[in-house]
Amino acid sequence: MFDEIRKRLVFFNTALMALLLICLMIVSYFGLKLIFFHEERQEAVTYVKEEAMEVVPFLKKKPSGDVEERFEPNGKTYYYIYNLRHRLIKAEFPDQKRHLAIFPFIRNWKEPVGHAKYIIIKMSPKRRVFIIASYNISDQMKILGTIYIAQDITTWYDRLQVYLLALCLIGIIFLIVVYWVGNVMANRSMIPIYKSFEQQRQFTADASHELRTPLAVLLSGTEAIMADKESQMSLFVSQTLIDMKDEIRKLNKIVTNLLTLARAEEEGQKVFKEYFNIVEVVHEVVHSLSPLAIKKNIDIAIKVPDQLGLFADKQRLCQLIYILLDNAIKYTPTKGKIFILLTKKEDNVRISVQDSGIGIAPDDQKRIFERFYRVDKSRSREQGGTGLGLSIAKWIVSAHNGFIEVKSEPGQGTTFEVRLKSQ
Ligand SMILES: Nc1ncnc2c1ncn2[C@@H]1O[C@H](COP(=O)(O)OP(=O)(O)OP(=O)(O)O)[C@@H](O)[C@H]1O
Ligand SMILES: [Mg+2]
Repeated sequence: MFDEIRKRLVFFNTALMALLLICLMIVSYFGLKLIFFHEERQEAVTYVKEEAMEVVPFLKKKPSGDVEERFEPNGKTYYYIYNLRHRLIKAEFPDQKRHLAIFPFIRNWKEPVGHAKYIIIKMSPKRRVFIIASYNISDQMKILGTIYIAQDITTWYDRLQVYLLALCLIGIIFLIVVYWVGNVMANRSMIPIYKSFEQQRQFTADASHELRTPLAVLLSGTEAIMADKESQMSLFVSQTLIDMKDEIRKLNKIVTNLLTLARAEEEGQKVFKEYFNIVEVVHEVVHSLSPLAIKKNIDIAIKVPDQLGLFADKQRLCQLIYILLDNAIKYTPTKGKIFILLTKKEDNVRISVQDSGIGIAPDDQKRIFERFYRVDKSRSREQGGTGLGLSIAKWIVSAHNGFIEVKSEPGQGTTFEVRLKSQ
């Protein structure tokens, strides 16, 4: 139980930190990218404006004619100048291959003049990133053409990607550290919880143990008084004695159940497994509870194989079936039906106790395995119920690494199904 809480605590803390970290990473990466591209765009626009002014004399001199292409190996920027009829008249580029890749984009450029945009072009051996900006070339309000510039910003873009990778790596390392620290912290914070739980468990175990003897004395004393034929008891006294005996029995049951649960929680409390025939156990339990069923005119049908070997704690398994059958009888009205099924498939043994009783509402189904939880307290008390039976049943099943589940329909009936490994 504590291990489960500890694991949840660590998981919750780590998940929270991971979420915060991812948010931080996203914000810092995209923030940086936004600032970076904003600055690059501004720069490109300023640059293209300056260039647009500088090329005015050239365009005035050469409004038409052949395309002037210049390969500038030492340059950094790609220039493209178009005249008013959108004919390319000058191109200048520092790299022939990249020029061929950019050119189709320039030819079909749809962005408004005075704007810059970045594009990613797939090229071998690797993709390249360019920022492209355009501007009108004008002389005294008269537009002569358009200039496009493209700048290779791949190196900067790559640095941004490296930054993202570094962020991810730092994030992973940080998460490992958080997980480790979380584990240590969870272990520490569990110590006081565990101590107080242990004290409470010890108290319950001691108190129930101490109460058993006085209760036994009270019960035998009451029985002895009732059995004394010589004493002249009024009707009132004998009725009071009967009620007292009933209450002492109930108290005795609570104390025994509490002691079972307190011992079950004790560290190292194990089940004592042995090979036995579970079919015999089922018959024994049915036999001991059949007087109760007969009293309520309830029919118990059994479908079990002749023999089914199980490696488990015989006493506990007997107690488990007793709890389930006892509930089925208690919560089934007169003339109802109970069906006990025992099957084995490969290594799995399935014990199912089905009744045609009052059923359990879905919300209550989630809580019936909790201690002292009773759907209808007055009804359960009337039946002598303490609300501890299913908690003990759950513990027995968990101690055998099995599963117990309930399927129920209010007013229709309930089925408790237990699955255990036969070995
Ligand atoms: N077969 C069933 N049909 C309907 N309700 C059930 C059935 N089994 C259990 N319940 C409900 O679940 C509650 C918890 O059951 P549980 O066996 O733990 O306690 P109990 O029967 O009240 O007392 P006891 O400790 O004597 O068994 C019951 O009070 C009852 O409301
Ligand atoms: Mg019960």
